[in-house]
Amino acid sequence: MTVAIAPLDTGRPITWRNPGVDRSSDYDAGRFGLTEAAMAQAQRTIAAWPGYQVTPLHRLDRLAKRLGLNSLLVKAETDRLGLDSFKALGAPYAVEQVVLGEASRGRRMTPGISVTAPHGGARDAAPPRITVTCATDGNHGRAVAWAAQRLGVDAVIYVPRMVSKARITAIARHGAQIVEVDGNYDEAVACAQTDADRFGRHVVSDFGYAGYEDVPRLCMLGYTMLVRELVGQLDPAEPPTHIVIQGGCGAFAAAVIAGLWREWGASRPSVIVLEPIAAAGLYESARAGRPVFVSGDHDTVMGGLACGTVSMPAWPLIRDGVDLFVVLPDRYALEAMRVYASPIEGDPAIVAGETGASGLGALLALLENRETRLAANLDEHSHVLLFVCEGATDPAAYRRHVGSSPDQILRLSKG
Ligand SMILES: Cc1ncc(COP(=O)(O)O)c(C=O)c1O
Repeated sequence: MTVAIAPLDTGRPITWRNPGVDRSSDYDAGRFGLTEAAMAQAQRTIAAWPGYQVTPLHRLDRLAKRLGLNSLLVKAETDRLGLDSFKALGAPYAVEQVVLGEASRGRRMTPGISVTAPHGGARDAAPPRITVTCATDGNHGRAVAWAAQRLGVDAVIYVPRMVSKARITAIARHGAQIVEVDGNYDEAVACAQTDADRFGRHVVSDFGYAGYEDVPRLCMLGYTMLVRELVGQLDPAEPPTHIVIQGGCGAFAAAVIAGLWREWGASRPSVIVLEPIAAAGLYESARAGRPVFVSGDHDTVMGGLACGTVSMPAWPLIRDGVDLFVVLPDRYALEAMRVYASPIEGDPAIVAGETGASGLGALLALLENRETRLAANLDEHSHVLLFVCEGATDPAAYRRHVGSSPDQILRLSKG
């Protein structure tokens, strides 16, 4: 049973070392549900998509020096397939697999194209259209809508109360029908599911629960592409010692952990997962030793992380693979957006949204005092890798927080 607990009300970051982290076993596909063959298949499929490109890995040498680290690398997902976040890897892979499965059963992918009936018999009427659906804080729904448009199927996307108009518009731009839910993310998930049952839609969620794990696992398989890219980009002589990953429902972190574990085994980098104070469902679940649910409206500027509990297929990897949890007040994410936008001379400028910048926010929080520095084992020998997992997905909010528009920062960075 999932237990509901109240959100944290501290204004200070919390760091917690996971006593359950497993640093002695090999990667175990049976325990974690993502097989090596399935990861490889997802990676091959994505690499063949039109427009697919490896996203950049930036070096911030000046900032590393100022922070007292050996090196600082940033994998920037700000222009992933034109969608501004790594989410373009997960949901579109899942949508593609769902649509291919349905099309092979005779359902309609593209308007006007008739599909051969399953047994080769004649059809009386056009086959029903495929509709995919999900709840979203922005990026996942945008990726579902994008994939549906690309494959010629319909999309209905449910957005909770806290999602900004700019993010809703970005989803609607891909032709999706939007349903605004007067509730939090978890309530939007419930609405999407109820309507899907009623209207025969396919839920393509990155959030899994008992009985609904296959599709979220497909999203996670798509995210493992990040690790395949990193393996090709990293200097083998200087592997990262620490990786900081943003945690919402945990699918992103779990997929990266799976890829790292498979690649580097027990000597994989130390994994630090950060969450907002208002929605620290992964941290609370790890502490409780089982999935728990954080109540409240999950109000945070880190909109992509506003999720109160852990996705079921992600849970074993979060439980066994996260070394350190950081629970972060919003102000650190905002500070990190500004640091990325105004780099030290010689470092590149990076346009990072609130969630995108929060990895650096967590690093800044950890480096703030000796105790947390020690807890994270961060020192002058550390090679830290961060993900800027989204760009400026809400340009007006970006301008408010940074003082310049995303375009101004990009122009400055091009010099
Ligand atoms: C930009 C961004 N980063 C990180 C996350 C967190 O990913 P997950 O929910 O898989 O933990 C999200 C989720 O929406 C997101 O949009």
